[in-house]
Amino acid sequence: MTENLKTTSLRARLLMWLLLPGMIMATGLLAKNYLSVSEVANRIQDRLLVALAVTISEHAIKSSGDLLSRDIELLLEQFTRDNTYYRVQGPDGAFVTGDFGLPRPPQDVVLQPGVPYFYNAHYRNEDVRAVTMKYLVSDPSSNVHGWVSIDVNQTRRQRDSLIYDELMGSTTDYLVLMFLSGIFAWIGVSHGLAPLQRLQQAIRRRSTDDLRPIRHAMPKEVTEVVSSLNALLARLESSITANQRFIADASHQLRTPLAAVQAEAEWALRNIHSDEDRQALERIVEQTRETARLTSQLLNLARVSPEGRKAGTLSKVNLLSFAARVTAEKVRAALNYEIDLGFDDQSDGLNCEIETGNEVLLREALCNLIDNAMIYSPAGSTITVRVIGSGAVTGPIIEVEDNGPGIAPEDRERVLGRFVRLENANKQGCGLGLAIVKEVADAHDAVLSLEDGVDGKGLRVRIAFR
Ligand SMILES: Nc1ncnc2c1ncn2[C@@H]1O[C@H](COP(=O)(O)OP(=O)(O)OP(=O)(O)O)[C@@H](O)[C@H]1O
Ligand SMILES: [Mg+2]
Repeated sequence: MTENLKTTSLRARLLMWLLLPGMIMATGLLAKNYLSVSEVANRIQDRLLVALAVTISEHAIKSSGDLLSRDIELLLEQFTRDNTYYRVQGPDGAFVTGDFGLPRPPQDVVLQPGVPYFYNAHYRNEDVRAVTMKYLVSDPSSNVHGWVSIDVNQTRRQRDSLIYDELMGSTTDYLVLMFLSGIFAWIGVSHGLAPLQRLQQAIRRRSTDDLRPIRHAMPKEVTEVVSSLNALLARLESSITANQRFIADASHQLRTPLAAVQAEAEWALRNIHSDEDRQALERIVEQTRETARLTSQLLNLARVSPEGRKAGTLSKVNLLSFAARVTAEKVRAALNYEIDLGFDDQSDGLNCEIETGNEVLLREALCNLIDNAMIYSPAGSTITVRVIGSGAVTGPIIEVEDNGPGIAPEDRERVLGRFVRLENANKQGCGLGLAIVKEVADAHDAVLSLEDGVDGKGLRVRIAFR
């Protein structure tokens, strides 16, 4: 049953149940029609046969045994389109006129005077309908007295063609009726299924982070399904929100004590003199710094994830001034790394605005890219943050380029995953930075790509907006 449901479409099932009973009934009617038309045609032919029998025998008696004239036979043939054969036998059973070899009625038939007996036979390679009757004749003119018996046989062409014509007519009606019913049933079913299709499209159009309830007007039969689906979406949303909130809260809670531990440890480091104590403290400071970085990156990830995105407000963002601002904020850190951090305005007066940007997320992404470039490039390297104005194909572009070690082309896809770090990574970092950048790009429907830096050296990360 489940297998059937999987393979058969709802439309096909509905159409089958709408059309099948009609087809069965119409076929039954067709059969009934055939039987009644055959019966009527048989009755007509039988009556004709009796009339012919009486006429022929009277003619034979009056003409003292003459055959029917050829004119009458032709007239009969034209009129009925059938061949008619007959045999008249006198009171003593003697052959009077007609075809002597005509088939005879079954032996056991006892003929009642004046009552015709009908039967089917075969004569001259054709099926024939036959009648036999006997009746009393008393004709002074021909001097015939007594029981005369007459057999008349007639081919069944007229009868068969009558049935055939009638059957063809009703079969044509039947086919037209079925065709029209099929069309109307198809239209009806399509109309009935339209809300389901709308529902399917509405669900298909949704992005993975859109968990709002489905609000389409639905027929009664589907509302139950939709409300169950909505209940599931609501449960899913609250469970995701709870998870996100937990991560955010946990990161928040961890950050403060970690910062305190780090500060304490750094203070202690400056105030002790034994080398062993110093090494132990240095390890503590290092560990704390890493844990602090991890919590902060986890918090960032929670913020850029689909649920977290909702919190930020969407607004018009001018990428040129935004990137210049973030770069300026990073200059001091760059100096510490002995790195030359520069900004390259390539807007050329073209548009650098995006209509629906989340500045909080964008800042997270750009900071991660600049941090990476500073951390993984050796002292003395150059980093350029570049903004390119909207072109014919893409919208504005932000690039962060360095001339450090770069990332091998085969690692560029993999490195976007969470917690992925490469050989060149020093101790700091937890492998979440580029995953955050990827999420932010996705949230803005932008394309993230990792390329070679200037002269094939270093790394250029590009975020192309639409
Ligand atoms: N500009 C770069 N030049 C060379 N290698 C890079 C660069 N940026 C990233 N990488 C490599 O990609 C890896 C992943 O970077 P990502 O920013 O995701 O994580 P991370 O820097 O290790 O940790 P964090 O989450 O603290 O940023 C890094 O560990 C590093 O090996
Ligand atoms: Mg990083």
